[in-house]
Amino acid sequence: MNPDMARLQPYPFERLTRLFSGVTPPAGLQEISLSIGEPRHATPGFIAEEVITHLHGLSNYPVTRGAAGLRAAIAAWLTTRFALPAGSVDPERMVLPVNGTREALFAFAQCSVDRSRAPLVAMPNPFYQIYEGAALLAGAEPCFLNTTRENGYRPDLDGVPREVWQRCQLVYICTPGNPAGAVMPIGQLQQLIRLADEHDFVIASDECYSEIYPDGAEAPVGLLAAAAVMGRTDFHRCMVFHSLSKRSNAPGLRSGFVAGDAALIANFLRYRTYHGCAMPPATQAASQRAWQDERHVIENRRLYTRKFAGVLDILAPLLDVQQPDAGFYLWARSPGDDTEFARALYAHCNVAVLPGSFLSRPVAGFNPGQGYVRMALVAPIEDCIEAAQRIEAYIRGPQQVS
Ligand SMILES: Cc1ncc(COP(=O)(O)O)c(C=O)c1O
Repeated sequence: MNPDMARLQPYPFERLTRLFSGVTPPAGLQEISLSIGEPRHATPGFIAEEVITHLHGLSNYPVTRGAAGLRAAIAAWLTTRFALPAGSVDPERMVLPVNGTREALFAFAQCSVDRSRAPLVAMPNPFYQIYEGAALLAGAEPCFLNTTRENGYRPDLDGVPREVWQRCQLVYICTPGNPAGAVMPIGQLQQLIRLADEHDFVIASDECYSEIYPDGAEAPVGLLAAAAVMGRTDFHRCMVFHSLSKRSNAPGLRSGFVAGDAALIANFLRYRTYHGCAMPPATQAASQRAWQDERHVIENRRLYTRKFAGVLDILAPLLDVQQPDAGFYLWARSPGDDTEFARALYAHCNVAVLPGSFLSRPVAGFNPGQGYVRMALVAPIEDCIEAAQRIEAYIRGPQQVS
């Protein structure tokens, strides 16, 4: 067996199942899950219809680089959304469809890391678990950049020693972040690009939550926009990852894209040709339509905005928790140990939340996820409010949950 397989950590949801085992929640309360970040708003009907209409495409092998129409729709969306210079995103050379960002974030490390040079792959901490698994299976050592309340839940680029940057080959960033929802400002993205030039590494910017931000707020900036403002319209060393899962409530479609530096895209396409992960034709057709429509995305934001307002009304007076810049998670300080708090909420309220320490690793004896819980506001608004009310009742006195 590949010995690196043994370095993979148990996935957070395996750990959650273990944490809850042997606990019997109150029989009279229906379970409300805030633990998994699976979007649960309805998938727009036109996306499903488009899949059905194009099922006859089953009789053809799709090409790995994707249909020209899909790539053009993605390039147009990127250009409008991030105010990129017209024509800067070449759909022929700078865009590739992927089957969700998860597989792409994983696969990208496999074709970008030179394992003969004691590589480091840097990532935020806490983090989306795929970054670490990708680094380990690419033969690299993960390097965790703590994101804490003190640094606004953004990696502190100034605090990274020079010798770490020198070994670094790939840096994952997640903006807006999972779990804390912080958006990296343009100045920080540009600082990272300058560091990438100085130390010869590649930036993989996971922007899959970029479209989930409060109504009326400024849309989060992205890595390509930061590069373009520097006049770097070849997006050298920059790769962004976007998804329809959260933006369009279509996690089952398995559809996203990568875009950026043409040389990185060419290398990734070569890898993907061998890996064999072309997107099915019906998925491509539905994705093209989804990237061309913003109405459903606006409606989606409206639903999340209402949920945040309703839940924070109840929880903010009781827990140390704030409205995030973006994303659909609340990252709340737990009163006491995060695993005990999560277990207690399950035991007393039948509400599942994820302990922060399941999403992070200790660095020099400090675990930045410890003492936090992540609540995904993905359930219908009534359920999110009901969960908040049960948590409120528990905090005011466990006997009051009914
Ligand atoms: C930060 C982050 N990146 C990527 C993904 C993967 O999303 P998908 O593969 O559905 O595009 C998720 C899913 O939860 C996520 O939280």
